[in-house]
Amino acid sequence: SSSVQDRPGEHELVVVANRLPVDSRTLPDGATEWVTSPGGLVTAMESVMRTIDSGAWVGWAGAPGEAPEPFDADGMSLYPVRLDQEDIERYYEGYSNATLWPLYHDVIVAPEFHRGWWDSYLTANRRFAAAAAPVAAPGGTIWVHDYQLQLVPRMIRDRRSDVRIGFFNHIPFPPVELFSQLPKRNSILRGLLGADLVGFQRESDSLNFLAAVRKLLGHHVDGMTISVPGIGAAPMREVQVQTFPISIDSSAVSALTEDPEIRERAAQLRRDLGDPEKIVLGADRLDYTKGIRHRLKAWGELLDDGSIDPHDTVIIQIATPSRERVESYRQLRDEVELTVGRINGEHAPLGRPAVSYQHHSFDRREMTALFMAADVVLVTALRDGMNLVAKEYVASRPDLHGVLVLSEFAGAADELRAAVLVNPHDIDELKAAILRSLAMPPEEQEEAMRSLRHQVMEHDVQFWAHQFLENLTASGSPEQEAAPV
Ligand code: F6P
Repeated sequence: SSSVQDRPGEHELVVVANRLPVDSRTLPDGATEWVTSPGGLVTAMESVMRTIDSGAWVGWAGAPGEAPEPFDADGMSLYPVRLDQEDIERYYEGYSNATLWPLYHDVIVAPEFHRGWWDSYLTANRRFAAAAAPVAAPGGTIWVHDYQLQLVPRMIRDRRSDVRIGFFNHIPFPPVELFSQLPKRNSILRGLLGADLVGFQRESDSLNFLAAVRKLLGHHVDGMTISVPGIGAAPMREVQVQTFPISIDSSAVSALTEDPEIRERAAQLRRDLGDPEKIVLGADRLDYTKGIRHRLKAWGELLDDGSIDPHDTVIIQIATPSRERVESYRQLRDEVELTVGRINGEHAPLGRPAVSYQHHSFDRREMTALFMAADVVLVTALRDGMNLVAKEYVASRPDLHGVLVLSEFAGAADELRAAVLVNPHDIDELKAAILRSLAMPPEEQEEAMRSLRHQVMEHDVQFWAHQFLENLTASGSPEQEAAPV
């Protein structure tokens, strides 16, 4: 078969994201190993791309320095983008994850503003745009993802007026009062408005974006349509804004629960934990947006006041390592591990944990076994674009057992109304919700789970991608002639 370099400009659909779906890792013998990248974006888009012919994915391979040559994997072509150590510090850890991330998640920690970081964000966005533009077929589609690449839609439009450009934001878009704090905020808005269609998770995110465009740029907004004045002689363009709640490959996850090996693994997990009556599970990237501290505080108090007996009930907390060089993530890890140590020191029976804490990632099969073993799953995010863990749990329970406790601040709360919805800031409410879930009779669990499954199985990630791409095709009016790249 021909190598990917032989056919540039032939891809009908090009995905651009900060990360490729796989991260490269260098093994002790110098060989390269590829592992699935962390995060909801990859969980969702990976399964979409497997169903698309001749798709391409442009992104960073997760390690500093020279980018690997383009290569084919899982039926798509991967185009690695180079990030040097300084880009990683300023564009990725700095502007993306110490400025935009906390600002867009309602300033749970204070965003840092540094002018040097913005310069790197700009140059890194240029590099992604330059890598993506030549890969698309004439009249093709380029789909840009997430907050790390908000300048890319406009940069691509400047090079390729023939392609359709979509942008989807996987994280929240903040209220204009918060967004206005951002230095260079208007450049961000203009970057996004290079797209024909800008998509968000929740209706409130779409409305926040429209308000920012109206208030800060003064553009005319009619419903969900923005009129963007042309520069110089260029004509007025229309940009559509729309809400598309992302999802998972629901039937694939559900089907895994039939696998005898995974079923046995779920049973084994329960035995390993000393056959407790109830297993409670939290599974998150180790991120301050996920409300892990609030969850542990509630759990610790329930043990302190004797409402939970650690001989009967065990909690597993999976905290996948994330952004480990960013200061607020280091602090969070220290606090979480101190709290887990204290709880176990005070409450764990000899030879088994009260809190089983896992600071590493688990593959899809192992996660399914964990979801099948969990009687209650706690999703207590303080702010979250969607939260796919909530949907994965529901998809893993065709047996209709189990209870989902879900923060109203996660995007998933708009759809998963039959969950036990909580305000995680209210520790007393959280404690009451946990006790109620642990005591919920099987018939009540089944009724709620049936309703949750109806939502998740009908609205899977294929449906989501189809809706986005269909609306993108219907929007804008790309020129027929391919511009020189
Ligand atoms: O899905 C949301 C997301 O923020 C992605 O944009 C991001 O790639 C992922 O989670 C994980 O974070 P990171 O890439 O910084 O490890």
